Amino acid sequence: MTTRPSTETGSMDPSTDTPVSTEQAGRFARSSVTGAKGRHVSVENLDAYYGEQHAVKSFTIEYEPNKVTAMIGPSGSGKSTMVRCINRMHEEIPGARVTGKITIDGEDLYHPSVDVTAVRHAAGMVFQKPNPFPTMSIYDNVAAGPRLTGMKGGNLKERVEKSLRGAALWDEVKDRLNQPGIGLSGGQQQRLCIARTLAVEPEVILMDEPCSALDPIATLRIEELIDELKQRYTIVIVTHNMQQAARVADSTAFMLDGELIEVGPTERIFTKPNDERTEQYVSGKFG
Ligand SMILES: Nc1ncnc2c1ncn2[C@@H]1O[C@H](COP(=O)(O)OP(=O)(O)OP(=O)(O)O)[C@@H](O)[C@H]1O
Ligand SMILES: [Mg+2]
Repeated sequence: MTTRPSTETGSMDPSTDTPVSTEQAGRFARSSVTGAKGRHVSVENLDAYYGEQHAVKSFTIEYEPNKVTAMIGPSGSGKSTMVRCINRMHEEIPGARVTGKITIDGEDLYHPSVDVTAVRHAAGMVFQKPNPFPTMSIYDNVAAGPRLTGMKGGNLKERVEKSLRGAALWDEVKDRLNQPGIGLSGGQQQRLCIARTLAVEPEVILMDEPCSALDPIATLRIEELIDELKQRYTIVIVTHNMQQAARVADSTAFMLDGELIEVGPTERIFTKPNDERTEQYVSGKFG
């Protein structure tokens, strides 16, 4: 996982830390945060490698708009790699490569004419460990992406408030916006990171084990938030927590050794999976 916090907003290019220009983002830009609908993400025959290591194998899936899809599977099964391919972060790793096709509402994310920074803007990422920009205030953490990208439409204060409200954090921080982001609790910091992601108006929200560093109360808060966010976004969440998948996800995808074993409505995956390996995994027999 990256060590630079600035990469995790989806607003900057992790390879160079350069801001995403409005024109670059234009290809995938949403018209507005409010009222916007989630986008359809389609993955077709995706293969991802680290040198010789074949980490994701012929992966095909549809992530439905306004739905939450959980990615489950044992450690090393390729979940994080898969999710990182959606915002084109995988290819930043030396020796890594990807083949296949990923589209957002039909737009090919890997088309040669697409600027990679626009893709990272469109597919916002929230990682395991909350990582606010350490020297910045709560306000500046959220304002940083829009400021750097020169986003227009609505003034910055309104955008910050809307993002913090969207991340269900506003009421807790509205009287301390100038205090450091790292002064918040872990769960609040994770919601701050979600607000930071929302501020740059992504199309899709990718979450890689967003609650694994949080206590049960903070986890519940994030789960409630995910449920709200799906009204507006397409959400993919990697989780090791079966109960969490059962609580938040409309669909669940089970990965094993780089392959998608099966995907379907969460309830069916947990009660009547088609594949014996899924049954063994969800019932705790391995992994
Ligand atoms: N930077 C890397 N360089 C080389 N191989 C890697 C790298 N990152 C992951 N891999 C390998 O790719 C495979 C898939 O890893 P990935 O991190 O996607 O699994 P995961 O399902 O997210 O696991 P976990 O549940 O432990 O997070 C593993 O075999 C892993 O060792
Ligand atoms: Mg992982």
